[in-house]
Amino acid sequence: MRTPLIAGNWKMNKTSGEAVDLARAVAAGAASAPGADLAVFPVAVHLAAVAAALAGSRVTLGGQDCHTDRQGAFTGSVSAWMLADAGCTRVIVGHSERRHGLGESDDLVGRKARAALDAGVRPILCVGETLAERQAGRSREVALRQLRAGLAHVRPAESGRVEVAYEPVWAIGTGVVAAPPQVVEMHEALRSALGDLLGAAGADGIRILYGGSVTPQNAATLLALPSVDGALVGGASLAADSFLAIARAVPAR
Ligand code: PGA
Repeated sequence: MRTPLIAGNWKMNKTSGEAVDLARAVAAGAASAPGADLAVFPVAVHLAAVAAALAGSRVTLGGQDCHTDRQGAFTGSVSAWMLADAGCTRVIVGHSERRHGLGESDDLVGRKARAALDAGVRPILCVGETLAERQAGRSREVALRQLRAGLAHVRPAESGRVEVAYEPVWAIGTGVVAAPPQVVEMHEALRSALGDLLGAAGADGIRILYGGSVTPQNAATLLALPSVDGALVGGASLAADSFLAIARAVPAR
């Protein structure tokens, strides 16, 4: 019922020419992965070029972050409205590289999610614990706190426009993927909390992606878990072959 989404977070990688080549290759291969929705998230300066490269394909475009405001004196920032204008249908908010690398608070992430919805762009809200938090037995507490704050300004009627990514910080870019029981436990906790926040009916339709060292080798195991509705892929999304191999690992539902 929830079509899996395979989302490629390109982070701060690729020249414009490389980004266009990658987008074209993903678009050309998309037919080989009919069971998944596909989206790519280039750096903001390449959005227009990548949008043109994806035109007419079933691969959609997203931004890696947005500001809370529509416009104004915010040097270096990009608004969700500008992302929409550039052809984005989604934006990642609360990625750990922004929470932990740049000090973004739970509250700020919640206001970004609200801005995205106001701009007509779907927020993908990232949540996840650090290694120290997991070792202290605080994984659920942290992820659920981030979830509640991230969705604090979302109305139940908008739940169809929200997506969540569980991304344990210790699994991102490390090659250490979370074990299936860890993924299932966290995804089930998140879904249950979504029900409390937005009502069971709305929560049921929200995709919860897993992210953190997803590769073509481990994708089939992760995507077969009933609580996993897709993947947010970093490193392995930087080549069309590995990204599409992950998308092809989506089991028939
Ligand atoms: P990774 O990144 O696949 O390189 O671990 C995932 C992410 O940060 O979204």
